[in-house]
Amino acid sequence: MKQKIVFATNNAHKLEEVAAMLGDAYEVLSLRAIGCNEDIPETADTFAGNAMLKARYVKEHYGYDCFADDSGLEVDALGGAPGVYSARYSGGGSEENMAKLLQNMAEENERGAQFRTIIALLIGEDSQLFEGIVRGHITRERKGEGGFGYDPIFVPEGYDLTFAELGSEVKNRISHRAKAVEQLVVALKQKN
Ligand code: IMP
Repeated sequence: MKQKIVFATNNAHKLEEVAAMLGDAYEVLSLRAIGCNEDIPETADTFAGNAMLKARYVKEHYGYDCFADDSGLEVDALGGAPGVYSARYSGGGSEENMAKLLQNMAEENERGAQFRTIIALLIGEDSQLFEGIVRGHITRERKGEGGFGYDPIFVPEGYDLTFAELGSEVKNRISHRAKAVEQLVVALKQKN
């Protein structure tokens, strides 16, 4: 029988991606699938802290083995901001977030940045963290229509196009999330 594990998200795209990589060994359940409709607090000031908060919440309230992710953009010249505050950087949506970031970087020539994901896994008595990072730089203007969040202003190392221009096939191979998920999948397959 397939082992059930919860991915503490309702993002269908993320769920499908992980379920496909895990193959037959696990049945991956969303928050909605286990009847968890409340907003899980994300009050920590690190990615690892927030990922662990979400995973613990599910384990404690619903009893399932679980993994949870938290990610964001860290800009070198801004001391790692917006970091854990990436989604709420401007108080508006993605367009406003990018506008604020470009504004804060207007006079800056050092444009290095990275996307980072942490996944926290709670399975049986074990807890583990996995990290994925993709380095790159912040452009001077938005380019491309694909992706989400800060994709139109981030060019990954080794490429001349933004994540939004590169498209999901390339992005899903080289992204921070893909790198963290690869490690999660290796660990889960070893446990099964
Ligand atoms: P989450 O933890 O994956 O939901 O990411 C939090 C926020 O970080 C998102 O709302 C985006 O603003 C930003 N972010 C995370 N991953 C990406 C990405 O792959 N592309 C663009 N923005 C991202």
